[in-house]
Formats: sequence, C-alpha cells, structure tokens
Amino acid sequence: MDIRKLQAKETAPMALLLLADPSLESIQSYLGQGECYLAQDLGVYVLLPLDQETIELKNVAVAPEAQGRGLGQQLISHALKIAKNAGFKRMEVGTGNSSVGPLRLYQKMGFKQTSVDHEFFIRHYPMPIFENGIQCRDMIRLAKDL
Ligand SMILES: CC(C)(COP(=O)(O)OP(=O)(O)OC[C@H]1O[C@@H](n2cnc3c(N)ncnc32)[C@H](O)[C@@H]1OP(=O)(O)O)[C@@H](O)C(=O)NCCC(=O)NCCS
Repeated sequence: MDIRKLQAKETAPMALLLLADPSLESIQSYLGQGECYLAQDLGVYVLLPLDQETIELKNVAVAPEAQGRGLGQQLISHALKIAKNAGFKRMEVGTGNSSVGPLRLYQKMGFKQTSVDHEFFIRHYPMPIFENGIQCRDMIRLAKDL
C-alpha cells in the first residue's frame, strides 16, 4: 500500500491516531514536532526526532477493518527505511505493558526491550486504561539499531 507524508496544510487523521493513544493532548504535542505518515486512510505512524542519532516511532495505528493483513509491519518497515535514509542510527518505541499485539509486532521487527518506565500511564493519563484484561501501567521501551 502506498505510504506518504502528511502535508502541513492537511488535517491529521485523529480517528486513527486515537487508536494508539487515547490522549488528544499527547497526540497534539508530538504531531507538532514530528512527521506523520499515512497509508491511505487505513494506517498511520509518526516519527519524532529525539536527538541527532535517535528517532522515536510514535503512534503506529491501523484501522480495525484493515488489521491483521500485514499493514502494521509495512508501516514499521517504511518508518525504519525513512529514518535510516535520513541518517538516524537508532529507533526507539514505547508501548504499554498491556499492548500484547504491539509488543509482539515490535519484537518480530527486531526491536529489543531496553527499559521500563514504571507507572508511566498512571502518571500521565487521567483515566485507567485496560487492554486484553490487563491494566496498562508501565511503558515498555524498545529500540533497534538502523
Ligand atoms: C498494532 C497494530 C498497528 C498492528 O497492525 P496490523 O496491521 O494488524 O499488524 P500486522 O497485520 O502487520 O501484524 C503483524 C504482527 O503483529 C503482531 N500482532 C498484531 N496485532 C496483534 C494482536 N492483537 N495479538 C497478537 N499479535 C498481534 C503479530 O505478531 C503479527 O504477525 P503474525 O500474525 O504473523 O504473528 C494494530 O493492531 C493497531 O492499530 N492497534 C491499535 C493501535 C495500537 O495499539 N498501536 C500500537 C501503539 S504502541
């Protein structure tokens, strides 16, 4: 599927972005500093540079009707290529302890766990988040060399 950069004049696909992050405030903060990529109206991801060598992959999301058909993997492969071509040396990503699917997906794509930010989602989100019958409390950080 064709993946392209969202242009500055275009509206961000909020419904998709909210699938990966329930906080509008958090989404708006990294959208303003990063670059958003779109796969038609079915998939999205955001790249946010952290320093000259490291870039963070934020908010990978695929519309429910398109999930399970490889688009998530395609978005991450695309992000890895864009970041490497831009000269970054390392990509980081963070996900919740309850995000079983993304944890499997990122590790399948070569990301390795680097740290755990304990109680991140308790500190930063006003409402408790539950997924897969588990409370999302901790941010699991993963990274991959480019
Ligand atoms: C996570 C997400 C982006 C995956 O997109 P997708 O297009 O469904 O993923 P793919 O079809 O490319 O699947 C790739 C791999 O991801 C893993 N995976 C994805 N969803 C999974 C789930 N619900 N349970 C277990 N594994 C899952 C699997 O390893 C799968 O490969 P496999 O089935 O061959 O083992 C999508 O489910 C999504 O948008 N979820 C809601 C938003 C979200 O949580 N984003 C991540 C924020 S950190």
